[in-house]
Amino acid sequence: MPTDTHETPVSLFTTEHEPRAKKVRIHFEGRPLEVAEGISVAAALLACGVRSFRSTPVSGAPRAPYCMMGVCFECLVEIDGRPGRQSCLVPARDGMAIRRQEGAVEPRDSRAQAWSVEV
Ligand code: FES
Repeated sequence: MPTDTHETPVSLFTTEHEPRAKKVRIHFEGRPLEVAEGISVAAALLACGVRSFRSTPVSGAPRAPYCMMGVCFECLVEIDGRPGRQSCLVPARDGMAIRRQEGAVEPRDSRAQAWSVEV
């Protein structure tokens, strides 16, 4: 839930973890959000009302998660300075800094998810 407003966001998305789950604080575009620990970053952002996760390289059109299972790549964001992260596959952890991904990421960017392995 957004912490910078007193209004309850209208959302089509809920999680089975709420309301008993431990909460963690993540930041999206600098905005602090309290979310259930362990749900995917995509689910957390959708539940908080975020509707634009990235923009397309050609037209700049906004995109948001579609499949929620790692297939469509519409959910790409930058997490803790690393671009090209599939937010539907990354669990939300306390202190994460998430930003929209604008346009293309250089494929040779060593920070991009496709070119690195996280153990
Ligand atoms: S929503 Fe499809 S890959 Fe993440």
